[in-house]
Amino acid sequence: MLEEKIKTKQAKVCIIGLGYVGLPLAIHFAKNGFKVLGLDIKKERVNLVNQGKSYIEDASELELKKLVTSKRLSATWDYAKIPEYDVIQICVPTPVDINKEPNISYLVATADEIQKRLRKEQLIILKSTSFPETTENVLLPILEKSRLCARGTSRFASGKVGKDFYLAFSPERIDPGNKRFTTENTPTVVGGITPKCTKLATLLYKSVIDKVISVSSARVAEMTKLLENTFRNVNIALVNELAQLCERMNINIWEVIDAAKTKPFGFMPFYPGPGVGGHCIPIDPYYLSWKAREYDFHTSFIELSAKVNESMPYYVANKVIEALSTQGVCPSAGKILILGVTFKPDVRDIRDSPILKLIKILEPRVKEIIYNDPYIKEIEVPTGTVPLTLKGLSLYKSKTLTQKLLKSVDCVIIATNHKAYDYPWLVQNASLIVDTRNGTKGIPARRLTGGKGGNIIRLGC
Ligand SMILES: NC(=O)c1ccc[n+]([C@@H]2O[C@H](COP(=O)([O-])OP(=O)(O)OC[C@H]3O[C@@H](n4cnc5c(N)ncnc54)[C@H](O)[C@@H]3O)[C@@H](O)[C@H]2O)c1
Repeated sequence: MLEEKIKTKQAKVCIIGLGYVGLPLAIHFAKNGFKVLGLDIKKERVNLVNQGKSYIEDASELELKKLVTSKRLSATWDYAKIPEYDVIQICVPTPVDINKEPNISYLVATADEIQKRLRKEQLIILKSTSFPETTENVLLPILEKSRLCARGTSRFASGKVGKDFYLAFSPERIDPGNKRFTTENTPTVVGGITPKCTKLATLLYKSVIDKVISVSSARVAEMTKLLENTFRNVNIALVNELAQLCERMNINIWEVIDAAKTKPFGFMPFYPGPGVGGHCIPIDPYYLSWKAREYDFHTSFIELSAKVNESMPYYVANKVIEALSTQGVCPSAGKILILGVTFKPDVRDIRDSPILKLIKILEPRVKEIIYNDPYIKEIEVPTGTVPLTLKGLSLYKSKTLTQKLLKSVDCVIIATNHKAYDYPWLVQNASLIVDTRNGTKGIPARRLTGGKGGNIIRLGC
């Protein structure tokens, strides 16, 4: 019985997609006593895992090596192994296309592969973020096709969910780079297609995660994830808009947020910046707004926050151009140094980073752009302003940050506030800084227009 196997940790766990979500999850399950197989179509990732080499910051190499050596964790690209595993967790990408519509092709491809090999008593859990009803209306119909091609003794005759196999959704909440909240101590939400599906998935997570919250259906769990990320997107948009107002009113938004967050209830701080990035915040809300239209419903908060957040790189670019002019530098002759290209500080992730968009917007308007990022050696930025995925890429390589480099540029943009940067040193050596993240907190900034003194122009001041 699957239930017994989970309780005794005899259940074998397969994790499909060994990325930011899948690899740490695979390590976590293996570390907690399950035998785990990671499955990925990228052979180089599979090889690295089998050599005990980690390529994700949140996946400890030491731990990975130990688990691979003790044969608790291995990896493959071969879907033929699927029938050997009792639990299959899907962690493949769910991006948006150029029109910001959901691209669930990775998910469908994965489900098709599972379906061909599905056997009795398997539990399938979707971890990838998607619109409500994906588990029920996309995954389930594919998996239930199994009954039509069931053959041999290892397969099943009816292929019925809740009876022959089990299906649930459990949103991933990992926050890359967050040392305080890890897989273990971040509560997880679980919703199955049937009560038995929920029960089994809950049992599984309870054996490796401190707190598990079971909800009444997969669609509730799916909507929970989208509420969380839309909430974040909307609140970031709110502070981005207020940052622009504060600039006009000569009020420091950063000081305002610091004061507001002293309220012990009813307020949560969010910070302005040059836009939102990563594989969740700028993408997930579009999954919801797309789905909502099927119900003749328009999600105005999502549209509004997208409008504000996606305009921020343009806003910052204009600020840089104006800042150069106030220094007496003709923008088209200006040399710009961008500090930090990842979507948030102290991570190696540049997916959907608004800084790439910022570079793209500035590229045709200034003479030269260079960048430094201690985490990213080189980047490829699509050329042209919009649309953002035009063919043709400019390759940039991270420059070593030296005093000479700082002196050689007309403007430094603090785009991502990595801890590694020595902000007072930057201020001492750069002629002009546009600080979009308050990295130079505590050092006086000047206003863009009519401001006197100092070499810092700070977003939201
Ligand atoms: N990165 C995050 O912080 C985060 C947080 C919460 C939720 N999520 C969600 O989790 C999902 C995965 O995100 P991620 O950041 O781990 O993505 P990722 O790109 O880092 O990793 C996905 C992996 O899946 C593999 N893959 C793609 N198609 C496959 C297939 N058909 N079969 C096997 N492997 C396949 C890719 O090669 C890649 O290694 C997404 O839905 C994302 O929205 C991500």
